[in-house]
Amino acid sequence: MKRKIAIFASGSGSNAENIISYFEKNDKFEFPLILSNKPDAYVHQRAKKLQIPSFYFSKESFIDGNEILDFLNTYKIDSIILAGFLLKVPEVLVQAFPNNIINIHPALLPKFGGKGMYGDNVHKAVKASGETESGITVHYVNEHYDDGNIILQVKCALNDLDTPESIADKVHGLEYEFFPKAIEQIWA
Ligand code: GAR
Repeated sequence: MKRKIAIFASGSGSNAENIISYFEKNDKFEFPLILSNKPDAYVHQRAKKLQIPSFYFSKESFIDGNEILDFLNTYKIDSIILAGFLLKVPEVLVQAFPNNIINIHPALLPKFGGKGMYGDNVHKAVKASGETESGITVHYVNEHYDDGNIILQVKCALNDLDTPESIADKVHGLEYEFFPKAIEQIWA
């Protein structure tokens, strides 16, 4: 039986689309639904194109967790991927999916993690601190922001000419290449 994976995304959803496309013809995983805390996030357009149902839940509902948990159980979801999802995962979900929720963070944790550290905020902070490298971290999710055990880190070199935008491009490139591989590594 295929592992049923729900993807949570708050924004554009390019990682969500990349993962779903990568595993399009595989016999290990299926992606029955995408959940978002934003009704107008671009990820819903991508879901439509991919013919995968996507749903909006309010921030309050996500924080509470119980309604989401019922919903995930209805779909018999085994695992959850956070792909640009910006809310903290509530304890009720962490406990219901032990070692079965993973997140991608666009920097080398434990640096540049924590509340408010997402997307471009991360790349701006990396630039401002004059780092000579950045990268991606794929990790298990626990009750705290960006804190669970690390599954995979991949680095990229930075130079003085890099801007937050060019850092974002480098990091996105790594995400598209390595996030699907990390998923395969732990769950295939
Ligand atoms: C990705 O770069 C992801 O690493 C980051 O948000 C972006 C979402 O892009 N996640 C975080 O910052 C989580 N703290 P996408 O919507 O195009 O996949």
